[in-house]
Amino acid sequence: MKKEVNPVVALDPLGADHHGEAARLRALGPIVRVLLPGGIPAWAVSHHEELTALISDPRVSKDWRNWSAVQRGEIPDGWPLDGMVRVTNMVTADGAEHHRLRRLVTRTLTQRRVQSLRPRITEIADGLLDDLPSRADASRDGSVDLRPHFAYPVPMQVICELTGVPEPWRPRLRELVDSLFRTNTTAEEVTATQRDRVRMLRNLVGLRTREPGDDLTSALIAARREDPDALSEEELLDTLWLLLTAGHETTLSLILNATRALLTHPDQRQLAVSGDRWEDVIEETMRWDAPIGNFMARYPTEDIDVAGVTVPKGDAILACYSAAGRDACQYGDGAASFDLAHATSRHLSFGGGTHFCLGASLARAEGTIAVSRLFARYPGLSLAVPPDELPPVPSLFSNSAAALPVRL
Ligand code: HEM
Repeated sequence: MKKEVNPVVALDPLGADHHGEAARLRALGPIVRVLLPGGIPAWAVSHHEELTALISDPRVSKDWRNWSAVQRGEIPDGWPLDGMVRVTNMVTADGAEHHRLRRLVTRTLTQRRVQSLRPRITEIADGLLDDLPSRADASRDGSVDLRPHFAYPVPMQVICELTGVPEPWRPRLRELVDSLFRTNTTAEEVTATQRDRVRMLRNLVGLRTREPGDDLTSALIAARREDPDALSEEELLDTLWLLLTAGHETTLSLILNATRALLTHPDQRQLAVSGDRWEDVIEETMRWDAPIGNFMARYPTEDIDVAGVTVPKGDAILACYSAAGRDACQYGDGAASFDLAHATSRHLSFGGGTHFCLGASLARAEGTIAVSRLFARYPGLSLAVPPDELPPVPSLFSNSAAALPVRL
């Protein structure tokens, strides 16, 4: 017997109570009818078991061209989530097309390359830690905001060096990525971000065509030169955009969330420091406080059944990674608590199936190095404000604090 479709939940574009909203979705069942910003209907899958099945289901496409609402012209230009949805890269490709686009990056971003980056990541983190005392804000009790001065520049420098983005371009890049992940943007901002990102990426391709280096952009340009069918110009630009966005906003949130978790759980901090349990800190943070809380979108290519509910072909389904990370059916009664004893790499916060995060090893390396160096360097580190006063990032996707003021 088919279940009744549960109530419609309007998701908060400001992400003001990210885990509260996730808990409400979970309580309503594995799959819930939701409204995205702008009143666009979709489904949300929030239980670990059903989400695991969904993200590996070959009947479910990631290509937005299969979204009935797009086909019917119901998604307006300038929709705040547009920059996440209507792109042409591996995230929105299926089958052989997906394999082709993903392979072009995986053959350059190898495990060996990630390993070889570790000393450089350490150097970047240590340099930023040296500078932290000079970042103290005298007008705010001498506290330092770790978001702009540590958590953001570590992955930003790493991904910009990996892709060959020149230093002077990085502040504007940061603004563009910030605007992409915020889901409270105006139509004008969305249009300006689209325009400026394409301009910047074209400039990057021009620069690395004239001056190739040992970076991913140069490797993708070379692949295109050898075989123009390897990837189109649009795919090249959107792949670079994917690496620049996925490669830093996410890891920024991981570093920030892990730091916040340790600062608010002294017993776990003690365990991490005394037992050198930094990999566990990173995995437990990924599960308990997923940096990508929700992710757009998947579209069934035929009617499918999720936990007894029929999702029609062409509907959009949101993957609720942070909700799944605290699912008691998967993680038991302690699912809602941050505890290194729970640490497992088998959470879903890096996605799954063929679209499993391509940068997971890099993110893990950056997270482990950054957080361990931070606590080793500043053993007296403490929060400068009560945890419930930390403002969330205004986003449906990004789950972290918009500021993390600390005392060194
Ligand atoms: C803590 C940091 C990170 C988190 C939480 C994260 C999360 C995710 C998730 C959830 C997905 C799958 C999305 C879906 O299909 O539903 C994904 C895919 C992806 N990630 Fe990450 N990511 C992180 C770091 C990185 C880094 C550092 C890079 C790049 C160097 C990267 C590149 C990618 C790419 C290219 C994909 C698309 C893979 C595909 O569609 O085949 N990510 N990531």
